[in-house]
Amino acid sequence: MAKTKALRSRIGSHEPVAIDRHALYEIAVQAPRRDARLLVSWFRRETGRPLRVLREDFCGTAAISCAFLRGGRGKEQDQRRAIGVDHDAATIEKAKHNIERLPLPMRPRARLVCADVRKASVAKADLVVALNFSYCVFHERAALLTYLKCCRRALRRGGAVVLDVFGGGLSHRPFSERFDHGAFAHEWEQRAFDPATHRVDCRIHFDTPQGRIDSAFVYDWRMWTVPELVDLMRDAGFASTSILWQDPRTGAFRNRSKGPADPHWLAYVTARRD
Ligand SMILES: C[S@@+](CC[C@H](N)C(=O)[O-])C[C@H]1O[C@@H](n2cnc3c(N)ncnc32)[C@H](O)[C@@H]1O
Repeated sequence: MAKTKALRSRIGSHEPVAIDRHALYEIAVQAPRRDARLLVSWFRRETGRPLRVLREDFCGTAAISCAFLRGGRGKEQDQRRAIGVDHDAATIEKAKHNIERLPLPMRPRARLVCADVRKASVAKADLVVALNFSYCVFHERAALLTYLKCCRRALRRGGAVVLDVFGGGLSHRPFSERFDHGAFAHEWEQRAFDPATHRVDCRIHFDTPQGRIDSAFVYDWRMWTVPELVDLMRDAGFASTSILWQDPRTGAFRNRSKGPADPHWLAYVTARRD
């Protein structure tokens, strides 16, 4: 939080400072504390046990891992461990800075691995998450299936995997949306959508008092559908699946067998191993 305030004041100062696109991303796009809380409470409801080991795949700056380690209290907090995996060395360096900002006793509970998520060899986790649609870098069914099999192997018995997914009519055409964060703004642009392949070209642009950072992040994704993900999870050997749909009015996520026919919906697809 202190970091966010400091960054906001630097951005708002009109000083010619170099602004870190990852820091802007964390403020603009992520809500790590909310995500960590949701994952912890969902995991307890679903499995009847506390979430101890979180593996954050495609972790970027490991914001969710850090929020997870900071959450909880007493013994429950002491028992938490987080593993962040990302294949980009420069991004892992940013994640290291976030770990270094954790209170001292928490730092050894975080581990960062610079590797492809399909090749990382790390301790088994209770929960593997791949958020902000990161798994959509896998364009072919075989590639995503391989990844999901890796997730299953990375889990302890009874563990789970959670992927987020978006869709709806609006996401099947080019559009852009601007979000104001006070000191700066960001634009989410879906530049292209190909109905033949479900490939999307998505971009994040930032507007700061120091200038525009055009195409700060560019994503070449395949927009997977919910039934495709559920099928793939079953094929990967998961014992059960469920879908948490976001209520378009309240923003809350609920386990439902049917989703809202919304122009732009958001959901989590989850799977458990036996
Ligand atoms: C969209 S960002 C997600 C950041 C963060 N997880 C979030 O929720 O906002 C995608 C990240 O995935 C990483 N990445 C892409 N392909 C990967 C792969 N095959 N293995 C490991 N990391 C990968 C990129 O380096 C990037 O940091």
